[in-house]
Amino acid sequence: MASITLIDNRNAERYEFDILHPTLGPDVIDIRTLYKKTGMFTYDPGFTSTASCSSDITYIDGEKGQLLYRGYEISDLANHKSYLDVCYLLLTGTLPSTTQLIDFDNELRKRSFVHEGIKELYKSFPDKAHPMAMMSSAVSALSTFYYEHLTIGNKEEMQIMARRIIAKIPTLAAFTYRRMYGIPFIYPDIERSFSENFLYMMRAYPHAEPEISEVEIRALDTIFTLHADHEQNASTSTVRSVASTGAHPYAALSAGINALWGRAHGGANESVIAQLELIGSIDNVETFVERAKDPDDSFRLMGFGHRVYKNFDPRARILSALLHELKDELGVNNELLEIAQRIEHIALEDEYFISRNLYPNIDFYSGLILTALKIPKSMFTIIFVVGRTVGWVTQWMELQEDSEKKIARPRQRYIGPLQREL
Ligand code: CMC
Repeated sequence: MASITLIDNRNAERYEFDILHPTLGPDVIDIRTLYKKTGMFTYDPGFTSTASCSSDITYIDGEKGQLLYRGYEISDLANHKSYLDVCYLLLTGTLPSTTQLIDFDNELRKRSFVHEGIKELYKSFPDKAHPMAMMSSAVSALSTFYYEHLTIGNKEEMQIMARRIIAKIPTLAAFTYRRMYGIPFIYPDIERSFSENFLYMMRAYPHAEPEISEVEIRALDTIFTLHADHEQNASTSTVRSVASTGAHPYAALSAGINALWGRAHGGANESVIAQLELIGSIDNVETFVERAKDPDDSFRLMGFGHRVYKNFDPRARILSALLHELKDELGVNNELLEIAQRIEHIALEDEYFISRNLYPNIDFYSGLILTALKIPKSMFTIIFVVGRTVGWVTQWMELQEDSEKKIARPRQRYIGPLQREL
């Protein structure tokens, strides 16, 4: 096995560490014995150089701008497969056959209802409750109805737990929306597909069937696919951290939802549209781009930059193409689209953005499509939750079966006072 030598030049001590080879991506130095051998920790705020686990679910090549789910290119999946194909792929490792897909779809349809008590929970939220707060509370509350998932013993039980939450998440998301606007809760319609049913639960009234076009269903389904998993991002790492303590899986997912809330992560999609509206006209774009470049101004171009992608986010490319293909049929806001295109054009030619590898990310375009689907800004991060739940729960399952699993417990570099006398 290849190894690397660490030389401590204070005492000329040499320490050997194994180098592990992944199937794709950079080699990894195995430092699990570092403290034992050297008495030292590593220092890596934000985990910019730390692999926290081994995983065979999702692979990102940030330099190339590549994203693979279980080895398949995201563009192939987004253009040729449905979101439910992708869910099945993530959960089981293989794409479903036609019969498997039908069975999986039927199972999710049947599991999409939630206990009536959940409606009472929603009714108890104040009118101004933030949708992400309602959503994380509702997912946490589901653990009270499915207490048995605390002690999952085998793969079959894991799959039931996973499918249950994937099926119910759109219902909770739609309940969240309806509670925000004080409009009646709508039950799932099991005659409808996953993405169509979500739009139905958002739009229907007890007295009125909503209009939902095939183009709208396709656009939303693609958005869900693009959000399905993204390796060890902040919310997924949170799910894994909480899961490592043995907490209930829905408690871990609820924590993931809270981590996603922030505007540096899932909350960025809402901020992008708010920012485009603030910019207001293509004549103002340059002023805002200058502000984003100013080190003394905290203003950032939302939907730009990514910790891992140092190239175009492949999900942004797919959404950009979808936006151009469907903009007329979807009725995309042309004014906002023009502002977005102008920002993209200026930023991609500007030294500041080029030298820092700042490219549009998934959130730059998703909001324009979601707005055309008549989904309000405050619901954008909830849409991210619906799409990402399958990724979180798949990562949860992988962790349970990981023989190297340990409680997540980082160390620190203490810089406080020395011991003091009272
Ligand atoms: N606008 C202007 N400057 C930026 C931006 C931006 N959007 N993003 C990064 N920079 C600059 C930053 O000021 C820094 O400059 P300098 O080196 O001169 O100090 C440099 O680029 C590196 O930035 P960083 O914050 O150290 O990079 P990071 O990897 O820690 O942060 C990020 C990544 C996504 C948090 C950040 O790019 C950002 O805040 N982007 C805007 C928010 C956003 O769109 N988030 C969605 C991410 S994709 C969806 C998801 O997976 O959650």
